[in-house]
Amino acid sequence: MKILVIGTAGREHALAWKLAQSPKATLVYTSVMAAASLEQGGKIKFNPADISTNDKVIAFCQAEAIDLVVIGPEAPLAAGLADALRQVGIKVFGAVKAGAMLESSKEYSKKFMDKYFIPTAAYKSFTDADEALKYIETLTPPIVIKADGLAAGKGVNICLSKENAAKTINDFMVEGVFGGSGSKVVVEEFLEGREASIIAFIDGDTYKTMPVSRDHKRLLDGDLGPNTGGMGVYSPVLDITEEDIDFIREHVFDKAIKGLKAEGVDYCGILYAGIMKGPKGINVLEFNARSGDPETQAILPLLEQDLLELILACVNKNLKDFALSAINKTSVCITLAGRDYPVSGSKGLEITGLDKVQDVLVFHAGTKLENGKTYTNGGRVLSVVALGENLADARQKAYAEIAKINFDGMQYRRDIGEE
Ligand code: AMP
Ligand code: GLY
Repeated sequence: MKILVIGTAGREHALAWKLAQSPKATLVYTSVMAAASLEQGGKIKFNPADISTNDKVIAFCQAEAIDLVVIGPEAPLAAGLADALRQVGIKVFGAVKAGAMLESSKEYSKKFMDKYFIPTAAYKSFTDADEALKYIETLTPPIVIKADGLAAGKGVNICLSKENAAKTINDFMVEGVFGGSGSKVVVEEFLEGREASIIAFIDGDTYKTMPVSRDHKRLLDGDLGPNTGGMGVYSPVLDITEEDIDFIREHVFDKAIKGLKAEGVDYCGILYAGIMKGPKGINVLEFNARSGDPETQAILPLLEQDLLELILACVNKNLKDFALSAINKTSVCITLAGRDYPVSGSKGLEITGLDKVQDVLVFHAGTKLENGKTYTNGGRVLSVVALGENLADARQKAYAEIAKINFDGMQYRRDIGEE
């Protein structure tokens, strides 16, 4: 099979790497320039073509006789790429636009959760800044304010004072820092606890969950500094117990599948639930209509089965017969980011030491190859993944190998997986 992976980051490198291991895959096209770095079989091919619109993707698929498209990021899902591919009869793994609204509109997502009794924080949504400001006066901080639309993971502010909440409302709704994405906001009850990510493969009727993972979203050690797309992940997460997972199945995924079906959405793809476990039990913080980045890099190496077979089981709607299991190891993934991340990307700085690392997987996100050398080309540059017998073992391996890698301004958290 010829497969096209849509997306340019570490998540998509991990998808291409795992897909290429399938005996059924003959060629995996990816837009991640260095994606062949981990591969022995010569099946992964860098695709420099512009595939930034639905029409361009379709034209590429037709020209290259692509058998299956796997969509990584949220933007093409929200732009209806899966719908467009289905319309022309190309097999696709990725949520249709109506399903992607669980991620692309926070208000829609909250309404959906309320309608189908999925546990989540209480909220109110606003399209009028004055109304939002009046409401904020009645609350006690911390106050959680979310831009309704997609904002590259930056549209959520946890405000510790009413003044900061008022400024956030002004930034989102009046100043328009996220353009149209912030013209509507959700103001939400603050939940205490520990977060975890649960990623499920869905065929429309059935779902199968991957091992639970935990992202570290703040830039700096000790969960300090600004929110980022994700600085590191470990999996599995032992404080999310079997009973918790049963609860999440029953009250999050069973209900979400039922709800999607009731709404007439034929959902074939990944549904990611970001949850908070705390004094108020387990609540959903957010749904994503895609897998996480860097969660994907941490969990795919744990998947015991052939990823292509799993995805085909979803596309062909026979996921219920697929036995998904994980190897008995712990995975740790650490993001190596550029100096100015998350404010801006790093460009053109040589990365050294990649040829020295052993026994870890290095997934490329913001990199560029030129004349046999690797250079930085983005905010999150690399994801380094180690598998170990336990968390301490995996962490030790990952950090020992990271010490061999360098580029000017390289930053990473030293406390990923420190319990
Ligand atoms: P979201 O994109 O909705 O997951 O929000 C981004 C991050 O903000 C989450 O990963 C949490 O760390 C935090 N967050 C979101 N909603 C809440 C909430 N209701 N209470 C506490 N923290 C939250
Ligand atoms: N790492 C968080 C996300 O992908 O949304």
